[in-house]
Amino acid sequence: MERLTLRHPRGESAIVVGAGALAAAADELARWWQGRRVFVVSSAPIAARFAGALEGIEPAGAALVHLEVPDGETAKTVEVARRLWEGMLAAGGKRDSRVVALGGGTVGDVAGFVAATFLRGIELTQIPTTLLAQVDAAIGGKTAIDLPGGKNSVGAFHHPHLVVADTELLASLPRADLRAGLVEVVKMATLLDPGLLDVVEEGLDGLLDGDPRSLDPVVARAIRAKVGVVEDDPEESDRRRLLNLGHTLGHAIEAVLDYRGLRHGEAVAFGLLFALRLARRRGLGPDVARRLVGLLGRFELPPLPPLAAQRLVDTMARDKKARESGIVWVLPVAMGEGRAFADVPLEEVERELEAFLREPFKL
Ligand code: GLY
Repeated sequence: MERLTLRHPRGESAIVVGAGALAAAADELARWWQGRRVFVVSSAPIAARFAGALEGIEPAGAALVHLEVPDGETAKTVEVARRLWEGMLAAGGKRDSRVVALGGGTVGDVAGFVAATFLRGIELTQIPTTLLAQVDAAIGGKTAIDLPGGKNSVGAFHHPHLVVADTELLASLPRADLRAGLVEVVKMATLLDPGLLDVVEEGLDGLLDGDPRSLDPVVARAIRAKVGVVEDDPEESDRRRLLNLGHTLGHAIEAVLDYRGLRHGEAVAFGLLFALRLARRRGLGPDVARRLVGLLGRFELPPLPPLAAQRLVDTMARDKKARESGIVWVLPVAMGEGRAFADVPLEEVERELEAFLREPFKL
């Protein structure tokens, strides 16, 4: 078990990480809830599995109000946010009420956004229940909902008061969800912590089996890497952009597939593979590229569905990470080092994309 601190412009987030983190944070949660309304935002399947654990730590005078959102990306709409705002108001929510986001990245995003905006912002705890949310989405204060024309188009930075990343909650995750979360770990390791990549390579079988002895050190180390970047650049004006590696194409793939068929992490894995192609043409050594392709090859990714290169390019150009001047690509330039490139010619992207869609694992 580890306790980390993320310092941000408006204060600090405490992060309790490891097997049994929820039990270890129970007293702290109880103090934070004492005498208040606590809005626990979750999807039905997650609430059925984990909400009971929260009832056990409910202190006297706290009222837990459960608010349900749909499962998956469909939770991140204006309509769902509005339902949550109205539910909180109707249940007597005040400036000092609390929000608990209990779930994966989509629950954390919408619950965080609602906490950021309800009565101009109320305090939030993130209790991520997927690997992806534990290592990435719940850390660093990004909150968002989608518009029909773009994922995460509306959002705010709203740092949680506390993040409880309990790796025991990952025990029943399907292998595909673990794999999807591990892609974000590979992303962070590639850019920030090459030693973490060694650990993932060596322990991949245990990690994909959800073995807590393998997961614990990896989750803690990935969170430490992310904390470092967010503390350096809390609102993504520079270094935090590195965390978008693989997301430029990844988000476009998700959008073109209408958020069905591939998990976010799986789409990012394909985005990362494509980034390696562009990076090779900008000096990334063949050994690094081959190593990453080899590792992602062991992830047993589902096949990439048929996609049209032109649609992907059009979607990327509309993405919120694109600037008015064009698409910005985050590419690894060496192991442990990445850079943002704003000058990749569109013709090159189109040409490489055609080849990539035929053979995603070829460099
Ligand atoms: N998930 C990317 C970031 O938090 O910046």
